[in-house]
Amino acid sequence: MGSVVISGTGLFTPEESISNEELVESFNRYVRAYNEDHGQDIEAGRSEPLQESSCEFIEKASGIKSRYVMEKAGILDPDRMCPSLPERRDDEASLQCEIGVVAARKALEVANRNSQEIDAVIVACSNLQRPYPAIAVELQNALGMPGFAFDMNVACSSATFGIQLAADTIANGNASAVLVVNPEICSGHLNFRDRDAHFIFGDVCTAIVVEKADRASSGHQFEILGTRLQTAYSNNIRNNFGFLNRGDESGIGTADKLFVQQGRKVFKEVVPLVAQLIVGHLEEMQIPVGDVKRMWLHQANLSMNQLISRRVLGRQASDDESPTILDEYANTSSAGSIIAFHKYHRDFEPGDIGVICSFGAGYSVGSVIVKRVT
Ligand code: COA
Repeated sequence: MGSVVISGTGLFTPEESISNEELVESFNRYVRAYNEDHGQDIEAGRSEPLQESSCEFIEKASGIKSRYVMEKAGILDPDRMCPSLPERRDDEASLQCEIGVVAARKALEVANRNSQEIDAVIVACSNLQRPYPAIAVELQNALGMPGFAFDMNVACSSATFGIQLAADTIANGNASAVLVVNPEICSGHLNFRDRDAHFIFGDVCTAIVVEKADRASSGHQFEILGTRLQTAYSNNIRNNFGFLNRGDESGIGTADKLFVQQGRKVFKEVVPLVAQLIVGHLEEMQIPVGDVKRMWLHQANLSMNQLISRRVLGRQASDDESPTILDEYANTSSAGSIIAFHKYHRDFEPGDIGVICSFGAGYSVGSVIVKRVT
């Protein structure tokens, strides 16, 4: 079957960003206005006052300092608190297609490939802006690619699950080059009125070219040595938005139709799952942990990543061994580990080994072990 390589990655970063200070200032204006409006009920003990948010908490609890977003003004408007993204006509490009095209073109350039040389497109992300036609088919058309395309969603693990699917499709002879795209517009599903979560996510798009090694011509080839995926059902990260919502009018627009999580439980339960998966995968591949130069981990929480690296390596990882991008980008769902890989791989020498690892809702965990070839 021959080996399969990642031959290029691309990144689209939105122009606008929001600092913790800006986000907290807007959130606290909302809280003060709410408490004033509900003053009588609060005084009479009929309702609880809302609590203000703080930059100190956000940075200490998560490591996040800022996030990029598709549209800033709507999010920071205390009367709105969600991005203003006007609907587009059916003959215009959808937003996810538009940012997918930018990231894809960059990945193709690095891979030294033109659109005609890609056989399949997988759009893999946490939230798709419509059920059909697939965003991937729209993207395939916009880029002028032959072959087939489809969407998939495994929440924050969508990219690694997409890479395994791409590698398997190639290994089985059903394609020779696959484009995996992760358009994550997380501001669309984040409840900016929820103090526990309003700081968590950012928007971005990543793209990955996966192809047969014997036809690759990029100067940035990483052979996929192996992939390992795992899922374990949990309600601790959940979003009840869906096409059946209209069947019960009482639930339309309620908070559970956006991202909701039990952050502390997620932290405690997911860290051991991830560490065991990476250690088990390396053992199965007979790769000593000491041979791993870098782990490009999912970017949800800095302490979580430090704990995972410590459990895998048996010691504290350096910034170089486990690079962080969540300080600038926040949690960008499935794109996080790919942004880390995209930004921090150029110093790899041929033969150097690294692990791309994602984790998130489901729960879902994915490990992709790669070795630099050229
Ligand atoms: N500002 C100030 N205080 C806040 C706050 C905010 N924005 N949000 C919560 N707090 C308070 C809480 O009310 C709580 O107060 P209490 O101790 O008086 O009850 C305290 O801070 C601790 O809250 P908690 O939710 O337990 O914080 P945490 O340390 O667990 O951090 C997360 C929260 C979300 C940053 C963290 O749990 C996390 O990142 N978990 C992993 C999530 C993850 O990986 N998810 C995957 C998603 S794809």
